[in-house]
Amino acid sequence: MEFIDLKAQYRKLKDEINANVLSVLESAKFIGGPEVKQLEQELAAFVGRKHCITCANGTDALQIAYMVYGIGEGDAVFCPDITFISSTEPSKMFGAASVFCDIDPRTYDLCPESLERQIKAVLAEGKLTPKAVVAVDILGNPCDYDAIAPICEKYGLILIEDAAQSFGASYKGKMCCAFGDIATTSFFPAKPLGCYGDGGAIFTDDDEIAAVIRSICVHGKGPRGKYDNVRVGVNSRLDTIQAAILLPKLKAMGDYEIDARQTVAKRYNEAFAPYFTTPFVQEDCVSIYAQYAILAKDTETRDRVIAHLKEKNIPNMIYYPTPQHALPVFAEEPGYSESFKNADDYCARTLSLPMHPYLEAEEQQLVIDAVLEAL
Ligand SMILES: Cc1ncc(COP(=O)(O)O)c(C=O)c1O
Repeated sequence: MEFIDLKAQYRKLKDEINANVLSVLESAKFIGGPEVKQLEQELAAFVGRKHCITCANGTDALQIAYMVYGIGEGDAVFCPDITFISSTEPSKMFGAASVFCDIDPRTYDLCPESLERQIKAVLAEGKLTPKAVVAVDILGNPCDYDAIAPICEKYGLILIEDAAQSFGASYKGKMCCAFGDIATTSFFPAKPLGCYGDGGAIFTDDDEIAAVIRSICVHGKGPRGKYDNVRVGVNSRLDTIQAAILLPKLKAMGDYEIDARQTVAKRYNEAFAPYFTTPFVQEDCVSIYAQYAILAKDTETRDRVIAHLKEKNIPNMIYYPTPQHALPVFAEEPGYSESFKNADDYCARTLSLPMHPYLEAEEQQLVIDAVLEAL
């Protein structure tokens, strides 16, 4: 059994993917081919956003978002304590401070109350300028944007949606990648929408911001092209073969993969709810379950389940073992008096199980049986 079965997806989409890749090989338009533009248009339409600019990976997408707004020295960027380092790495890179916030104990996303406490702490200390919030839809479960967006407005903060894990999810009828001033995603192969290498995208509704993103992605190109450099940029683009691969995958996601993920999650939820904390999805929201995580009653129980799954050859992972505030690289970031108790508790008890749209009913049963046997 695979944790995320990319081979099963390829078997299903093989004819279209192969034809698209061959077509790129024959055209030899490996960079900036027509498939890239088509994909950008389809991605923007899929999430309901005006602009989509593809780039080399989800980490670059975030770094470029920080660059667009000139986040740097003396700025405070507020981030959830549970995420992958890409969300917060650009702060350090550009000389800003990452101010971590505790997570909501139900969704595991950025806790709006903790966010406001941390903003007030930064203002009270008076050393840093509150600048931006990175809201991460962790495990594919959308953040509470109705609570977070007004806080950003109240304090004049830029809202960046890190939707690396949540492409395909939605919050109250609006797709993830459509929140904030700017949203970013990742097409890393294991992501809900993954390519066959690295890839990413940035979304915005603002024409001027979109133009700046396009410039930054190509070494800060100016109105007269790539040798008319008007700002510091990077070289970050999605190549044509990856775009050609993503086109049929995007269609499959809309046609049936989102629903198939819900079916697996529902079955898991029913089986695990009596014994574990199962994923909580807010009303009128859809999680894409980039990861399906259960929380055991304590670390000892979680580790016992892991040991048993190992014996049964059932893949599993811990996303994430360490909260951001406890990572050595962030040892000097200001924590203020926030306790991070929900994030610490989450890390101590979380366990992710095999989850993808092609997980057969028999495989689901094997996972369920093995987890419950361990108890
Ligand atoms: C929350 C989050 N943000 C950003 C990224 C970065 O994406 P990439 O691996 O494409 O650079 C990831 C990837 O794991 C992620 O999980």
